[in-house]
Amino acid sequence: MAALRFSDTISATLADGVLVVTIDNPPVNALSVDVRAGLMAALDHAEKDNSIVALVLTGAGNTFIGGADIKEFGKPPIEPLLPQVIARIEDFSKPVAAAINGVALGGGVEVALACHRRDAGPSAKIGLPEVKLGIVPGAGGTQRLPRLIGTAAATELISSGRLVSATEAHKLGIIDNLTENPLIDAAIASAKSAADLSLRRTGALSVPPEPAEAIDKAATEALRKARGQRAPAEAVRLVRLAAASSLAEGLAEERRTFVELRDSEDAAALRHVFFAERAAGKVEGLEKVAPHKIETIGIVGTGLMGSGIAVAALNADYRVIGIEQTQEGADKGRERITGIMDKAVQSGRLDIKSRDDRLSRLTVAANAQELAPADLVIEAVFDDLSVKTELFQRLDGIIRADAILATNTSYLDPNVIAAATAHPERIIGLHFFSPANIMRLLEVVNCENTAPDVLASALAFAKRLGKLAVVCGVTEGFIGNRIFSAYRREAEFMVEDGAMPHEIDAALEAYGFPMGLFAVYDMAGLEIAWARRKRQASTRDPAARYVVIADRLCEAGRFGQKARRGWYAYSDGKRTVDPEVTAIIETARAEKNIAPKSFTADEIVTRLLKAMADEGDALLAEGIASRASDIDLVMINGYGFPPHKGGPMFSAGRR
Ligand code: 3HC
Repeated sequence: MAALRFSDTISATLADGVLVVTIDNPPVNALSVDVRAGLMAALDHAEKDNSIVALVLTGAGNTFIGGADIKEFGKPPIEPLLPQVIARIEDFSKPVAAAINGVALGGGVEVALACHRRDAGPSAKIGLPEVKLGIVPGAGGTQRLPRLIGTAAATELISSGRLVSATEAHKLGIIDNLTENPLIDAAIASAKSAADLSLRRTGALSVPPEPAEAIDKAATEALRKARGQRAPAEAVRLVRLAAASSLAEGLAEERRTFVELRDSEDAAALRHVFFAERAAGKVEGLEKVAPHKIETIGIVGTGLMGSGIAVAALNADYRVIGIEQTQEGADKGRERITGIMDKAVQSGRLDIKSRDDRLSRLTVAANAQELAPADLVIEAVFDDLSVKTELFQRLDGIIRADAILATNTSYLDPNVIAAATAHPERIIGLHFFSPANIMRLLEVVNCENTAPDVLASALAFAKRLGKLAVVCGVTEGFIGNRIFSAYRREAEFMVEDGAMPHEIDAALEAYGFPMGLFAVYDMAGLEIAWARRKRQASTRDPAARYVVIADRLCEAGRFGQKARRGWYAYSDGKRTVDPEVTAIIETARAEKNIAPKSFTADEIVTRLLKAMADEGDALLAEGIASRASDIDLVMINGYGFPPHKGGPMFSAGRR
């Protein structure tokens, strides 16, 4: 029969007395004003038409509903509001079944919770990810979910924003019926059967009783993970409220909190991050360039970085050929890679069958000729220019003409490496962060002569690895290490000017960094940066301000946590202020006749943010980064910048 249309995004067909309403609002069926108005119109129609006995609500494509339309946040709200649509569904006189055909998120889950039945296919995924946007569910999620699955489980799900599979959602009781059969047929059948029964309205259920300890445990765990962020803490409070108040009171408090958080700075920052992530890796003109087909990855060097890259590639279903100089090295490399997989098995993140499957795609050899079939070769050897250029020249004679060569250097100039090869157009930089199988960030370094198809291929590779790729040009340290250097330089200036390292770290940690800068230094070890400073000493501008404190720490053998002494002293895993360090700092100040000033936490943070943002502006002006938001993503995902502050470029602009 002909389709009925209720708005640009809402259409329906009538099947056996059941009105099947489809939301078709690409790309993710977000609940825009047109969707909300169309749903209301469909409900009006179904109410009046006596031949309709029930409704099924589903999404077009492979998403059910991706949530509220985030693009509408910050604009004046237009009726019907989502809570109005949801109340209408729950109170509707005829049964409404949700046919959850794919991902259901945020407001999409809230719509499903208001339906009287929830059927889902195996590819469905359920999540209330609002806290990741700095908000709480605003259309009943915190009140209806605990009524359905209990307070402890709802607390965990809403405060973490975690997505659950269809199977887990079924086990939890969010989905009533998990079916392999055509979903719409199953949903029609369940809507019709519900028509014969009294309607099960989630909002009318009582929250199931649970031991207080279970609820407290879930709340404590959620607050621990929230690390001071407001949204998860509010989610915990609101979920608890469901058992203690009427639906109407709970919904009103939820909405009030939602609106307040939606208009907060944290939420604005997290929305910025959301859209920044979607913009990252997009390069103008590149969408028309076809990437190479990549299935086999060569990795030269299977040390800490190379083995992490190998695991990331194996996890993404690639074949991997690891290369070492000796058989002994190759055996060790294989052991390292196997060890990472085994740890994942022990912690329950990987099953044995998947481990075996992944390792069956791995070869580690001591002969570089084995790289002949590779589509992409990544070098992860010692960061030395002559080692890398010599290697790439040798690889020129081994790999196919259309294979891509990537360098994982952190500081060397990939243009110089490329220039030494026969085909500089196939050279690209892939700067992974350690551990490469865990860290999401990947700086994709577009070198002077990199061909567009090589860049497109690297981005497709990054996507398949599940990495967040940020494209950058060539500069010492690329985006991240250049900003980090400016940040570190400014922090050391401040120490010389009067702030103590522990004061700077306390200010940064209160701002939201998981660890202060000097504590990070100590964790990473001070000797590599010291060696670099010594190498660069002859080319340093003698007029530029130089702080000797880090050098003096190294001269005193204070190499960081490993040595149990660095910027701090360490005992029993705890850091403490060490008078020896204080003396070194005071001597350095005295040598320059600096009278130490005191700094408030706010002054410390403002000065460090400005240093980062100024360096970011320089990167933009030099064309190394193409968007300020890319710089924010690098600092958030590679250097611990708190996501709810939006990154240095975003936050410096708002102070
Ligand atoms: N509103 C508006 N636009 C959205 C959106 C949303 N909820 N979700 C995704 N989009 C847009 C993206 O910006 C992107 O746009 P672009 O093509 O112009 O860059 C496009 O949809 C595709 O998004 P992805 O690249 O992320 O596509 P994927 O297929 O990789 O992922 C997804 C799809 C899993 C739905 C993912 O987009 C996602 O997680 N979206 C956010 C979901 C979310 O947070 N929902 C909660 C919203 S808040 C809410 O519902 C409040 C309520 O309680 C009142």
